[in-house]
Amino acid sequence: MSEGLDLTDWSGRKVFVTGGEGFIGSHLVERLLRHGAQVRALVHYSPSGRVGWLEGLQDDVDIVQGDVRDGSRVRRAIEGRDVVFHLAALIGIPYSYDAPESYVQTNVVGTQNVLDACRAAGVARMVHTSTSEVYGTARYVPIDEEHPLQPQSPYSASKIGADMMALSHYHAFELPVAVVRPFNTYGPRQSTRAVIPTILAQLIGGVEQLHLGSTTPTRDFNYVEDTASGFMAVAASHRAIGHVVNIGAGREISIGDLVKLLISVVGRDVEVVTDEERLRPTGSEVERLLANNERAHAWCGWQPEVPLEEGLRRTAEWVRDNLSSLRVRGYHV
Ligand SMILES: NC(=O)c1ccc[n+]([C@@H]2O[C@H](COP(=O)([O-])OP(=O)(O)OC[C@H]3O[C@@H](n4cnc5c(N)ncnc54)[C@H](O)[C@@H]3O)[C@@H](O)[C@H]2O)c1
Repeated sequence: MSEGLDLTDWSGRKVFVTGGEGFIGSHLVERLLRHGAQVRALVHYSPSGRVGWLEGLQDDVDIVQGDVRDGSRVRRAIEGRDVVFHLAALIGIPYSYDAPESYVQTNVVGTQNVLDACRAAGVARMVHTSTSEVYGTARYVPIDEEHPLQPQSPYSASKIGADMMALSHYHAFELPVAVVRPFNTYGPRQSTRAVIPTILAQLIGGVEQLHLGSTTPTRDFNYVEDTASGFMAVAASHRAIGHVVNIGAGREISIGDLVKLLISVVGRDVEVVTDEERLRPTGSEVERLLANNERAHAWCGWQPEVPLEEGLRRTAEWVRDNLSSLRVRGYHV
């Protein structure tokens, strides 16, 4: 069935997105709607009925409240869907030091539930979400998909477990699943736990001193619209089935240089102060990440469109417009 699936045209496709109310998920849902897909989204149940970044889209999206740890709930929600994007996860690295079991339950068991439901429903395509954190500090750059996996945090380990469960379902059960592996993503709606929004919120909020963790690690930042288009390109690629595909811009920048760029975007200079509390344990710090995105280009026709400077300008504008609702806490990269 998967071989016959043509996702060059998304109109009328019955799509299911877990984590659809989140940062990347909401951009993906909006993009799918723009392409004419019929979207159902699993939103993490909250007694208050909050639907995160899908607020206002209740008429366009079939919203199902639930929890990926609940297998029968996930099974019923996926019945009748053609394509499944699985993004729901616990993503904070610091919290994974405190609560590793939660990461196993949500990220590994939750993924197993989604895989099982996709098998039962006979979906034509599933895209499982990995992360560049699974590579750990680069042993060589740029990092291609053959780079060793190094679980430097419980978050990374839980994602490695989930990725392997996904690939095993391709090998053992011929489930047409592809693993998309985004590098650091940024843009409007990202929580201030992440490095770019926390710096922008501090700069725009008018602080005199910018509190940061280590400024030497490097990252490869990808604008969220590009990440979302990468998810759809991977889903549409027959070649990607049973494989991992990196989605990253292919440009490396240190946190220190990122700060300089953000200072120039916002137009105000401040003193940078290292906050011991924001440092990761030594062995857990991922010092260097830079994507080799050749596979995404060759197999899926994907390439990033938004240069870092432009993406940062758009993100700064969003932070300025939403400053009153943003809270600066500890953050992660
Ligand atoms: N943001 C990045 O830089 C980045 C980079 C690489 C990979 N990723 C991956 O992309 C995906 C989306 O991340 P994001 O940055 O949008 O973060 P996010 O926290 O905004 O999204 C995660 C979503 O999962 C949902 N969720 C958490 N636990 C759940 C549960 N038990 N049941 C149902 N839903 C649950 C949350 O409500 C949230 O909407 C994650 O899988 C993450 O690991 C993110």
